[in-house]
Amino acid sequence: MNNLFDLTGKVALVTGGEEGLGADAVVAYAEAGADIAIIGLEIEDLNNMKNKIESLGKKCIVLECNVSHEKEVKNAIQTIYDYFGHIDILLNNAGISMFGGVEDLTEEEWDREFDVNVKGIFLVSKYVVPIMKKQNYGKIINVSSINAKIADKNDAFIRHAYNASKSAVLGLTKGMACSYARYGINVNAVGPGLFESAMTKDTLMKSDRFLHIYTEMCPSARVAKKGELNGTILYFSSSACDYVQGQFIIVDGGTSIV
Ligand SMILES: NC(=O)c1ccc[n+]([C@@H]2O[C@H](COP(=O)([O-])OP(=O)(O)OC[C@H]3O[C@@H](n4cnc5c(N)ncnc54)[C@H](O)[C@@H]3O)[C@@H](O)[C@H]2O)c1
Repeated sequence: MNNLFDLTGKVALVTGGEEGLGADAVVAYAEAGADIAIIGLEIEDLNNMKNKIESLGKKCIVLECNVSHEKEVKNAIQTIYDYFGHIDILLNNAGISMFGGVEDLTEEEWDREFDVNVKGIFLVSKYVVPIMKKQNYGKIINVSSINAKIADKNDAFIRHAYNASKSAVLGLTKGMACSYARYGINVNAVGPGLFESAMTKDTLMKSDRFLHIYTEMCPSARVAKKGELNGTILYFSSSACDYVQGQFIIVDGGTSIV
């Protein structure tokens, strides 16, 4: 029987894959057989990931690139394409999260949130989609959030720009899925619940109050364990999802069930 989840021979591009959930996905991709391209901000972390992936016997190219800057994105995608000759999987993972509501956020903070979380996906996809169209093959996975579906009820944890940006990711996912399905490209989204990472470790994960609220609301009664997003990402990256378009799977132990 063919292994539906085998990624041997594929090239997976992960944005912000030098740490956190992106780095976990990079390792999962390599273990499933893919070669790797990572674009991100932190050169030391990028180089560490390159060493890690090469030690697993896979090729890896890493590039410093801000996903909000079109010129950098265009050059990075061209370099990756020149190096591998194809890009089969795109995990649009890079993201930032700012606390505050509409009364507190500055215009600059609001714009920055959208520049990374939404415009970043637009720009990277803008240069990867034509490659995937030529290949008549591609899997695009956009990282949204549980916070696209539910908002924090407690004032201490409100993130209005984050809620809005992660909801926008879902609209973009649906639009892209409708436009590119006919070119053999699948576009879907994942919504992590609460995972420990640089984004959460000094804020949400440090708050007993938040952890209490989250685990009370979570039927699985716990935060996520490291790596628990990988199965859903691998599913959307593999031929197991060839007939799945524009879908959103939330990986949160059931926290968002209403
Ligand atoms: N950790 C969670 O609980 C959680 C929950 C829901 C959604 N998410 C989403 O998962 C994704 C990964 O988050 P994480 O928790 O691993 O956070 P993280 O802060 O550990 O990782 C974010 C990554 O994005 C990169 N990045 C940030 N801005 C960038 C830019 N302008 N250009 C290029 N790269 C950039 C960072 O360098 C980093 O590698 C994000 O989209 C986040 O919103 C995380």
